[in-house]
Amino acid sequence: MQLEPGQIAVVTGAASGIGRALALAFRAAGLQVVATDMNASALQALQTAALADGREAQFDTVVLDVRDAAALEALAAQLETRGGAAVLCNNAGVMVPRTLWEHSDAEWRWLMDVNVNGVMNGLRAFIPRMLARGTPAHVVNTCSMGGFLTSPILGGYSATKFAVRALTESLLYDLQARSANIGVSMLAPGAVNTGIFERRAEAPETEDAMTAGAREMMRQGVAKTGSPPAEIANLVLAAINADRYFVFPHPYLSAITDNAAAIASLQNPTFDWAATWKTDP
Ligand SMILES: NC(=O)c1ccc[n+]([C@@H]2O[C@H](COP(=O)([O-])OP(=O)(O)OC[C@H]3O[C@@H](n4cnc5c(N)ncnc54)[C@H](O)[C@@H]3O)[C@@H](O)[C@H]2O)c1
Repeated sequence: MQLEPGQIAVVTGAASGIGRALALAFRAAGLQVVATDMNASALQALQTAALADGREAQFDTVVLDVRDAAALEALAAQLETRGGAAVLCNNAGVMVPRTLWEHSDAEWRWLMDVNVNGVMNGLRAFIPRMLARGTPAHVVNTCSMGGFLTSPILGGYSATKFAVRALTESLLYDLQARSANIGVSMLAPGAVNTGIFERRAEAPETEDAMTAGAREMMRQGVAKTGSPPAEIANLVLAAINADRYFVFPHPYLSAITDNAAAIASLQNPTFDWAATWKTDP
């Protein structure tokens, strides 16, 4: 579909980082934005910043936890009275660096609930309405390079992103099978300079020294080398307009082909940070 002024774009996890940049980019393109997040004060700050540009388009905020299927369902239903959401960005996500077996049951369920069930809740609420309407629509799911490449201490996060990758690709096939007028993009960033490595207040675990250290190391890493979220958002808008599925902002693609070659030749996996997360041209 082509993005056009007046269309409605819904973004989850819009109060910070990539989601915030997406909300602002849709606004700059003239769309009506519905920015959702569980962080009410950051959403309020975003709305103030967005409205400061003086544009006419509506910019709404909805405090919503993506784990709450009923809240997403209510939002989708309510937006139908305004013509319905043309764009849905299932973007909210959380990350905890921890050795796999040290995730407690509560922490593991939290990761899965936000990163995987949150996406499913968005799809279940919005896709049937997009199908019924039949007008052009587009869904963007935020995956990660962690949905393609695994690494130590990010196994739990990576598992959720492998799931997002699988369900996003399946979504594309399900929609193609129905000749639906709904495009799909899968955003798989590497390092982006956002708040993802901050410890979240609602995280079910107390932090141990190893997780705190890993989080701090990664936080400094993305602050130094991560892409600006606005650049990622621009890639996403271009992908929607071009009906492009893969949005890989980072040049890690050879690591994916190396990984595929290792699988095809039945080599045991080995991990090497430099080789896996290389920043080749
Ligand atoms: N930053 C990176 O390097 C990077 C890399 C790959 C993928 N990603 C993915 O990008 C997406 C956005 O993350 P970000 O980097 O902008 O991080 P961020 O922490 O800056 O933003 C995430 C937003 O999601 C919100 N959120 C968290 N749990 C929520 C919930 N249950 N319901 C509603 N909102 C919730 C947070 O309040 C926050 O505003 C995530 O899915 C993340 O996994 C980020």
